[in-house]
Amino acid sequence: METARALWRLFLVGVLGCGGAPLAPAESLPREASAERSSASNTDAPWWQGAVFYEVYPRSFQDTDGDGIGDLPGITERLDYLEWLGVDAIWITPFYPSPQVDFGYDVSGYTDVDPTFGTLEDFDRLIAEAHGRHIRVIVDVVLNHSSDQHPWFVEARSGRDSPRRDWYVWSDPATGGGPPTNWASIFEPSAWTLDERSGQYYYHAFYPEQPDLNLRNPEVVSALEDVLRFWLERGVDGFRLDAVAHLFESIELEDNPLLDALRPGGDEEPLQEHVHTMFLPEGYRLLGRLRRLVDAYPGDRVLISEAYTEDAAGLLPFYDDGPTDGVHLPFNFLLMAPEALSAPRFRERIRDASETLQGRPTTWVLGNHDQPRIVDRFDHGGERLRVAKLLALMLLTLDGAPFLYYGDEIGMVTTEPQSIEDVRDPVGRRYWPENKGRDGERTPMQWDGTLHAGFTDGTPWLPIPTSAAGRNVKALRASPGSVLMFYRRALELRGASPVLRRGALTLLDVDPEVLAYRRQHEAETYVVLLNFADEPRTVSLEGVSEVLLDNVREPSRLETAAIQLAPYEAMLLR
Ligand code: GLC
Repeated sequence: METARALWRLFLVGVLGCGGAPLAPAESLPREASAERSSASNTDAPWWQGAVFYEVYPRSFQDTDGDGIGDLPGITERLDYLEWLGVDAIWITPFYPSPQVDFGYDVSGYTDVDPTFGTLEDFDRLIAEAHGRHIRVIVDVVLNHSSDQHPWFVEARSGRDSPRRDWYVWSDPATGGGPPTNWASIFEPSAWTLDERSGQYYYHAFYPEQPDLNLRNPEVVSALEDVLRFWLERGVDGFRLDAVAHLFESIELEDNPLLDALRPGGDEEPLQEHVHTMFLPEGYRLLGRLRRLVDAYPGDRVLISEAYTEDAAGLLPFYDDGPTDGVHLPFNFLLMAPEALSAPRFRERIRDASETLQGRPTTWVLGNHDQPRIVDRFDHGGERLRVAKLLALMLLTLDGAPFLYYGDEIGMVTTEPQSIEDVRDPVGRRYWPENKGRDGERTPMQWDGTLHAGFTDGTPWLPIPTSAAGRNVKALRASPGSVLMFYRRALELRGASPVLRRGALTLLDVDPEVLAYRRQHEAETYVVLLNFADEPRTVSLEGVSEVLLDNVREPSRLETAAIQLAPYEAMLLR
C-alpha cells in the first residue's frame, strides 16, 4: 500500500510546520495514566456530540437509474440498512452540479443537484425519509473554490474589468515572467494557472479546474452564506466544511519555504511548508461568522471543519472559545497518522486529544474518501478481519463522535487502478505509479453477491473487486461472526449506553502493546482492551466482570483478574 499512502502524505504535507508543536516520540512519554475529560458527561449536550456519523460517497453508494453512478434515490433506498446498522447521522459528499473533475468537489452550482445524482425533490425526499428514521443529514460545502465552469468564474475570467473579476484570486506574472510565487497545489506542481486571454494567473489550492474564491471579497462571503441558508432551509442538520485550512492565502505573495523532500512521483518537485497558503487566521474568523449564521437556526445544526493538523494543538483555533471564532466540531484526524499498528502511537494520539482539547467535543476518524481503506493501512499478520474489528471497537468506544466511511463496516479493501488508463482521479494520473490517486477507496458499495454487487444494473463507474462475491452486506448479515455484525453490535451497545456515548475517558497503563482505556459515567464503568500485538498478552485488571463484546471469543463472565488476550484481540468489558 505504499503508493496509496503517498496520497495520504500529500494531504499531510500541506500541514507540515503549520499545525502546532511537534509530538514527542511516543516511546519517551510518561507511562502513567492520562488526563480525564469531564464535560463529555453533560446530558444537555447537542445531538451531534458523541453521535455516530456515516460518510456516504454518493457516486458509489447505490445506483437506481442504471448509469453506473450512485444517486440520491439510491441513498434513500438504503436508509433502512443504515437504520438497521444504527448510525445517528449521514454525511453526504457533494452531489451539486459539477463537471466532476474532483468528483463533485468542483461545484458549478451550489444550490441544486447534479442530474447524475437526481433532483432537489429527490433531496427533499431523502431528508424526510432519513428524519423519519431519526437519521440526521449533513451535507458538504466547498467554500474554498468553485469549478472553473461555475458562472461566477466564467464571468470573472471574461476580462480584467469583469465585475466578478475580484471573486477569485488573480495575479500578474512574476517579474521576468512565470507564476507569481512558488506556491504548490495539493494536486499539481504549481497552484497558479495562466489565463492566456488576460495574461494573469489565477490561484487554485487544488486542481486548475478548482479556482480559489477570493474570500476577502464580502460579496463572495455573502453569496456563500446564502448557500448555507438555502440548505438549512431545506432541512439539513449541518455542514461538513471542505478544505478549510486553505481558505485564505497571504496577500504579500511571498514564496513558501521549501522542504528537504521531494513529492512522491513528482519530477524533482520539492515539497514545501505551506506557511503563506494554509491556516491563516482570517480563515478561523470566517468560520466563526458562518457559525453565527448556523446557530440562528433551531435544532443544533452543526458545522464540522475539515483540516488535517499535525496534533491536537492545531485544532484549538478551530473551536469557538479561543482567541478566534470557530466551528462546533473540528474534524480530528489524529488516528489517521500512525502508519503502524502500534499501541503506543495510538495511545499518544488519544492522550494528546484528551490533554489538549480539555473536554471540547471532538470526532474520531479512521477512513474517508481521500485515504486508503483502513484494513489496508496496516500490517495485520494475515488477520485482516480481526484487525478490522479491533479498529472498529476503538473507533466506536472513544469519547467523541466517530465517523464511519461507507464499506468499512464490511471490511472493503482498497482496489487500485491496474493501469494509468484506468485512473479516474486526475492526481493519480499525474503522479502515477507512486501515487495512484483515490479511486481505490471509492469503489462501489458491495450490497450482495450478484453481478456488480447490487450497486447498479449498468456498468459501475469504478470496478468492483472480485472479493465482493463473499464480502457484501447480504452475506455478512447472515454470518454472526462477521465484521458487519461486529460493527452493528458495537453500535447497538454504544446506542444503549450513556457510558459509551458520554462517559469520561481515562487511558490505562496495562501493557505497552495493549491500548486500554476506561469510560465512566455516574456509577458505571466500561473498560476497553485492544491488543495491537501479533502475539498473546496477559493483562491484569480488577473491577470488571463481564465481556460485552470481543472479536475473538463469545461474550462471557470473567473468572479471573488475569486476562489473556489473543493476538489483535479487542474486548469491551463492564
Ligand atoms: C477535501 C476533499 C477532497 C477534495 C479536496 C478539494 O480534502 O475531501 O476529496 O479533493 O477537499 O475540494
